[in-house]
Amino acid sequence: MSSTSSFNAEEHQKMLRSYFNGHGFNRWSSIYGNEKLSTVRTTVRQGHAVMMDMAYAWLQQLNLPEESVILDAGCGTGLFSIRLAKNGYSVKAVDIAAQMVDKSQEEAAAKGVQGKIEFEVNTIESVKGTYDAVVCFDVLIHYPAEGFIEAFRNLSSLTKGPVIFTYAPYNELLAFQHWIGGFFPKKERRTTIQMITEEKMNKAMETTGMVVKNMQKISFGFYHTMLMHAEKK
Ligand SMILES: C[S@@+](CC[C@H](N)C(=O)[O-])C[C@H]1O[C@@H](n2cnc3c(N)ncnc32)[C@H](O)[C@@H]1O
Repeated sequence: MSSTSSFNAEEHQKMLRSYFNGHGFNRWSSIYGNEKLSTVRTTVRQGHAVMMDMAYAWLQQLNLPEESVILDAGCGTGLFSIRLAKNGYSVKAVDIAAQMVDKSQEEAAAKGVQGKIEFEVNTIESVKGTYDAVVCFDVLIHYPAEGFIEAFRNLSSLTKGPVIFTYAPYNELLAFQHWIGGFFPKKERRTTIQMITEEKMNKAMETTGMVVKNMQKISFGFYHTMLMHAEKK
């Protein structure tokens, strides 16, 4: 934690855990599911699918051996973990919210791939292990730069291979305000999307000894994110 910052990692995790076990679970699991949604949320579902397709294509281009073990940090309802498992990878799926882990376990069983996925209720800051690749989608969008560095430091220490993740780039303020307003109930507004400037992201990569190999901004209706692939220098 930076000495000039008021960011408190423990408090932040507590707030995220509570949100994603409650309102957040209902909201995001419906977006990641098949039920009918409002037009706004439909664009978020579609944008998220575009992001996941691109991330999966990037992974495939890296030609990781099929038996590779991949960490899905902040797995949510397990969409990406299940996709990886279906394609032969072994997966560790971790989420701060037990409700999300339960749901991803249920989904993996329904798809017949539970044997390929190890599930754990844990945080991106504390998860341990060694992996061939780490993915972390739409989790770090909830972190300001100070928290991002600490969480990312842990994730990047778990692999010699790629870390593929998303964050919220600092721009398109209005679009994000709409997104925030549309998705977070008033009393939960603390769980806002936290935008990170390019300068701070460069600093975070430098500080954690990582170099950016690929990046792609994805804007689709109300879904806006930066997909990034970084590796150790
Ligand atoms: C918007 S969802 C994205 C889920 C999934 N990665 C996807 O893209 O389908 C964010 C997820 O991150 C999880 N999360 C938030 N903070 C976390 C943390 N510090 N450690 C682990 N998981 C976290 C939430 O519980 C939630 O499941």
